[in-house]
Amino acid sequence: MATLPQHTDDLLVSSNFIRAVRESGYVSLSTALAELIDNSLQADASDVAISIRRPSSNDFPQIEVEDNGTGMNPSELAACLRFGGSSRFDQRTSFGRFGMGLPAASLSQARRVEVTAWRPGGRARSVALDVDVIAAGTPVNLTPRDGAAGTSPSGCRVVWKECDRIEYRRLAWLERALHRDLGRMYRRFLADGLTLTINGAAVDAIDPTFLTTSVEGHTARLAFEPRRYEIETSSGDTAFVTVRFSMLPVHYWHSLDNVTKRRVGIVSHGGVSILRAGREIASGWHLMGSKRKENYDDWWRCEIEFDPILDEHFGITINKQGIRPSRTLREALEPELESIARLLNGRVRQAFEEAKFQAEAAASCRIAAAADPDLPVIKGKGRDKGALSYRIGSAPLPLDTMLRSELKHRTLDVTLNIDHPAFAALYRPLQAMEGSAAADLRTALELFLLSYARTTLLLGQDSDEMLRAWSAAYGRMLQRS
Ligand SMILES: Nc1ncnc2c1ncn2[C@@H]1O[C@H](COP(=O)(O)OP(=O)(O)O)[C@@H](O)[C@H]1O
Ligand SMILES: [Mg+2]
Repeated sequence: MATLPQHTDDLLVSSNFIRAVRESGYVSLSTALAELIDNSLQADASDVAISIRRPSSNDFPQIEVEDNGTGMNPSELAACLRFGGSSRFDQRTSFGRFGMGLPAASLSQARRVEVTAWRPGGRARSVALDVDVIAAGTPVNLTPRDGAAGTSPSGCRVVWKECDRIEYRRLAWLERALHRDLGRMYRRFLADGLTLTINGAAVDAIDPTFLTTSVEGHTARLAFEPRRYEIETSSGDTAFVTVRFSMLPVHYWHSLDNVTKRRVGIVSHGGVSILRAGREIASGWHLMGSKRKENYDDWWRCEIEFDPILDEHFGITINKQGIRPSRTLREALEPELESIARLLNGRVRQAFEEAKFQAEAAASCRIAAAADPDLPVIKGKGRDKGALSYRIGSAPLPLDTMLRSELKHRTLDVTLNIDHPAFAALYRPLQAMEGSAAADLRTALELFLLSYARTTLLLGQDSDEMLRAWSAAYGRMLQRS
């Protein structure tokens, strides 16, 4: 077993140091707990169980994190609570790096931390740090003593006693916040089979890109193929930063009520999620150049992934909270990310306009559908010849046509070209008008267009040419008017 100094008086004044450590900047319980979960994952744990309780009604809470990872040997255990006591100092393969996470995160939240580790065939052993003992100037003894093993063959348990920094009055609220934060931070691991529980309840993955989380049966879509940027590391190697953009389905989700939108994370959660070694270390409005965040920007998401060898470029601090991008990184990513952000903002705006347009056109579509059984039958594929339903939308289309119509599963889908002069001349004024006269006029115009689209369908082949010729003539005339 390694021989350890019994105290650290040579370099540090322990009693002051420990108070400083307590303020070391873990902004929340979630980020402090994440240090423990990172360690469990690095010890190959597949199960991590968090328990939170109040030993008696007016005590500070006690938090335990138990995993089924590899545990530690006695000398690792003796070192694990020492500042800088890492079995992987400055390795860049995974989360841990400086040997500060376990002691600093623990004492930022608790007045006492106890670590117990066990392996098959050996005894369980424990070490502890106590703020009050250190503050009193008593020499610290980190020699492992006997402890109680958990239920798995090997593993580790960290107990935080007297958590005096927790701001939640009710532990149920705290639990809910942890489900939300940890579900998001560890989403990749949860999706890959990690079992993480809080007081027995499984933490579910929360994906801010919505690429894998569905709401009302719909998910977001990738806006582009993932983009990769090659960045040179301080040691001269290169590594990739991967960036994904997703578009939320405005069409399906815009009409959800505000409570639902907030609960599932559609509004006010927009922006960029940054993953280091697969775990989220920051989220917010990062690397978007001079573009400011607007409401529409809630409706697209960005995920930026990098490996720890790029830590210097992302400006990772010891407590792994937040980023401070280097100039090189900003120059490599920001111009493109900013222009994509602007492009997606425009797409969202258009999707909202389209949704509004469709809602307003719904009345005309119902009228057309009610009249359809009285009109000559339009045969679909196979033997389908029931009455048609109708849908009118708007989108930018090639300039040579006023509209596009398609028959999809007995729905005649008409899309008006917002870029054709007819749209500006006929529709925009109607949209600006208020009152029932405008609504009637709009219905009349929509029925005019639907009946035209239906007629071209009935007549078959040459209708496209007819439509293009008509669109060109009308467009030309409108330009003169
Ligand atoms: N859950 C765990 N299972 C096994 N070993 C652990 C666990 N947590 C911490 N350790 C050991 O304690 C050491 C210190 O952890 P930490 O202070 O977080 O530093 P780092 O993760 O940067 O090495 C780790 O290097 C590891 O050897
Ligand atoms: Mg660690």
